[in-house]
Amino acid sequence: MRQHVNPLSQFFQLPLSLPNHSVLFKNSHCPIHVDIGSAKGKFLIELASKYPKWNFLGLEIREPLVVASEKKRKELELQNLKFLYCNVNISLDSWLSDLDNDQLKRVSIQFPDPWFKRKHIKRRVLNVSLLNSIARYMSKDGELFIQSDIFKLTESMTNVIEESNYFDRKDIQGLKWIDKNPYDVTTDRELFVLKKNFPIYRAIYIRNSTPL
Ligand SMILES: C[S@@+](CC[C@H](N)C(=O)[O-])C[C@H]1O[C@@H](n2cnc3c(N)ncnc32)[C@H](O)[C@@H]1O
Repeated sequence: MRQHVNPLSQFFQLPLSLPNHSVLFKNSHCPIHVDIGSAKGKFLIELASKYPKWNFLGLEIREPLVVASEKKRKELELQNLKFLYCNVNISLDSWLSDLDNDQLKRVSIQFPDPWFKRKHIKRRVLNVSLLNSIARYMSKDGELFIQSDIFKLTESMTNVIEESNYFDRKDIQGLKWIDKNPYDVTTDRELFVLKKNFPIYRAIYIRNSTPL
């Protein structure tokens, strides 16, 4: 499978109509956590097993990973979890617009593809447009969680978020970066980085009442 796909290629610009939340989850009115770039799905599979009163949606641009995650989800018979294939930069806004008011409570973006080269920076997943979509539909006090082991990438995400004024950074006892995953579950990439003893930069932002 390819390590990275170019989200700006023509193939990934086609908007996909994602199924409405009412058909994705058994209890479709529960609060929703969306994980952007869910890869093999470990993080949400563990969270969905622990928190049956939440619904979890994993979005991933590499379709084979979605197929594999969905297979595991079905084996575990988790009805508060779904993995969908899409380019979030193209297809997420419309899905969010159909949610109940105040239903979107959490979004996580964990170890996104770095796209180091200057000419590739526009391929990074968190841009102003995606941030505005999240802010538009997230309930007040909802959480946006980001983490990465690459400082420059984390900084580019915190800049996009903080320049928007729609989110306030959560103060964790005066720490600049949170020292562990706040949901007590790790992603695959997080486990890999922890084993290597590399630093991880994590931050939570809370949706404030600034209107869009
Ligand atoms: C480095 S991986 C990290 C995966 C996982 N979050 C973790 O921490 O283990 C980033 C994931 O984001 C996915 N991705 C990148 N751009 C995306 C986009 N525009 N829409 C949806 N998924 C995307 C990639 O295919 C990849 O699986």
